[in-house]
Amino acid sequence: MDEAVIFACSHRRGGNTDRAAELLAEGVRAAGGRADILYVRNFKVMPCMACGYCDEAVNRQGRERCVLGPEDDAHLLFERLFTARTALFASPIYFYHLPSQFKTWIDRSQQFWTARQTGEQWVAGLPQRTARAVLAAGRPEGARLFDGALLTLKYFLHNFNMRLDDPLTLRGVDGRADLAGRADLEERIVDLGRSAWESSRQ
Ligand SMILES: Cc1cc2nc3c(=O)[nH]c(=O)nc-3n(C[C@H](O)[C@H](O)[C@H](O)COP(=O)(O)O)c2cc1C
Repeated sequence: MDEAVIFACSHRRGGNTDRAAELLAEGVRAAGGRADILYVRNFKVMPCMACGYCDEAVNRQGRERCVLGPEDDAHLLFERLFTARTALFASPIYFYHLPSQFKTWIDRSQQFWTARQTGEQWVAGLPQRTARAVLAAGRPEGARLFDGALLTLKYFLHNFNMRLDDPLTLRGVDGRADLAGRADLEERIVDLGRSAWESSRQ
């Protein structure tokens, strides 16, 4: 089914990131699209063990590429990235970076980095796409508050031939309902969802 996939990456249920994910979905629907929100916290994802299995498993695809593939849900999330025309991320900042569950999933994409290195077309031949992101941080200031998260997102998405375009970074959003009280920010997030859907269909 052709729908935007929204990865909601906070550990906190019902907080700012969940709200941002709902607003992104609202924007997609306003543009005539469909959206599915995936809450990363609801998926069982084990950490990459750096075992080297994926280096040796050349041409093994899907769940079979990683020794942990049959054990957990990481691949259910990856499958959605493989097929999505419109991919959106909503995440909080934790210690100047992405939350550990999300980062744990990101580390598991090492298997696709490896496959690209060996020129395997099932990864290297994925269509070029653009991803969008909303990042929420509690601190109102900090020149480099989003640097780590954005760099990691950029190189994570590169594995899937996705470019991170024009991320929306929100500062001073801390309490669970802070975003819900900011109509100006909410409107920008809805706009981002709308434009992500529209631009991925041009
Ligand atoms: C473990 C942890 C680490 C955090 N680290 C930072 C930080 O480094 N900088 C910052 O501005 N906010 C930090 N925050 C605040 C969150 O970014 C902020 O509360 C955000 O709105 C949480 O989003 P959520 O409601 O979707 O969970 C941290 C929060 C937690 C729980």
